[in-house]
Amino acid sequence: MNIAIFYFSATGITETVSNHIATILEKEGHSITLKNIIIPNSRRSQVDFLEFDACIFGFPVFGGRPPSIAEEWMKTLNGRNQKCSMFFTYGARDLELAHQVTFYLLTQANFKVVLSAEFIGKHSFNVAKGWSLAEGRPNQLDFDVATEFALQTIIQFKRDSKFNIDLSDFTYKSKKVRESHGFWKNFYPLRDTDDCSMCYMCEKECPVEAFDALLGEPNRKRCIQCMHCVSICPDKAIHIGDVSQLFEKFKKRFGLTEDVVENKRSKIIF
Ligand SMILES: Cc1cc2nc3c(=O)[nH]c(=O)nc-3n(C[C@H](O)[C@H](O)[C@H](O)COP(=O)(O)O)c2cc1C
Repeated sequence: MNIAIFYFSATGITETVSNHIATILEKEGHSITLKNIIIPNSRRSQVDFLEFDACIFGFPVFGGRPPSIAEEWMKTLNGRNQKCSMFFTYGARDLELAHQVTFYLLTQANFKVVLSAEFIGKHSFNVAKGWSLAEGRPNQLDFDVATEFALQTIIQFKRDSKFNIDLSDFTYKSKKVRESHGFWKNFYPLRDTDDCSMCYMCEKECPVEAFDALLGEPNRKRCIQCMHCVSICPDKAIHIGDVSQLFEKFKKRFGLTEDVVENKRSKIIF
């Protein structure tokens, strides 16, 4: 089959899982097109989904849902009744409404969703000093589930079986952009060293056009704190401050002991 994998990936976790799925499917003889939708221009061009036999969507979970810009992008699509599967990577806290929101939006966009999955991934905020959640994930077990997900996706694309996510208690509301104060106010990227070659990657690659390379910081009203600029800076000049105290509060609030995190499993949702 000719399959496209559309994914959003800020720190590379969803990309790693997408690449793994692509490798498995290519070994099975399928032709795979990988498309990262992180850069604004990649979300502006119209996609004709009839160019593919089916597709797979992969998103990280940001605040219990897909990133707001991924949600807005899904609203612009016309799946033309094509089949798709979807998956999420998340930093071992919770997916909350991610499956429901995405299933709803893809169904509204005329896709037939056949399968979903969730994978544990190193938390994006591990780029910050003092934050360390699900380090080392996805691990071999997670990749094994991704392999199974890839193979099951093909089986479900070929069948006409019904896949449904219960939306009876669900009403879709657009996602609010995170407030730039409160708990998350210290999670903004900042260039805090002179070792910057002014390559403008931070500005060019920012998914919401928030980062100003000259100022060395983002517009806080636009920034979605995805950590892409921190992650891609070739000079390692952009950082987040020390959030170790916030990390302790966060773990306590969500009961994220080492054992709990280690025992969180990636899974396929049939
Ligand atoms: C702004 C933001 C919000 C996040 N919210 C959640 C969340 O609600 N639950 C969770 O378990 N992980 C959360 N994470 C962690 C990411 O889902 C996780 O690290 C993901 O694998 C990152 O994928 P990427 O590198 O492809 O962007 C969040 C990360 C960011 C940057």
